[in-house]
Amino acid sequence: AVATDYQAEDATISQGVVESNHAGYTGSGFVNYDNVAGGYVEWTVTAPAGPADVALRYANGTAATRPIDFTVNGQPGAVGITFPGTGAWTTWKSKTVRLQLVAGTNKIRARATSADGGPNADKLTVTPTSDDTTPPS
Ligand code: GCU
Repeated sequence: AVATDYQAEDATISQGVVESNHAGYTGSGFVNYDNVAGGYVEWTVTAPAGPADVALRYANGTAATRPIDFTVNGQPGAVGITFPGTGAWTTWKSKTVRLQLVAGTNKIRARATSADGGPNADKLTVTPTSDDTTPPS
C-alpha cells in the first residue's frame, strides 16, 4: 500500500508549539507538546475505508515514557500507546499503531495523556492496508 506522510507542523495543534531546534526532523520542524496532559496534534487524513498502519515519528530526550491516545473522528482508536525515551531530542524513532479509517476524511488525533505532555512529534505516516492480520512493526 502507498504510504503518505503528514507533517506535524502542518497539522492542527492544541497546547503545543512548532519548533526546529533539535536536528533530524523532516519537513520544516516538529511539534513540542506543552508539558501538560490533554495537548494534541490532529491530522486530516484522506484514506480508503479499512485498516491503516499509522506511524508517529517522535523523539523523547527524557527517561520517562510519554503516553498518547489516538482517536479517529473522535472515537477511541489506540489508547495508552507508550513513547519511551529515545536517548536524545535529536534521536527520532517511529512507533506504529493500527487504526480503522473511514472512506474519505479522517481526523486522527494524538492526545498526550500524562502531565509531561507528548514526545516531540515529527510526522505521521499513514499506510492503508487490506491485510488486517499482520501486526504493525
Ligand atoms: C526540552 C526540549 C523540548 C521538549 C521539552 C519537553 O525543553 O528542548 O524539545 O519538548 O524538553 O520536555 O517536552
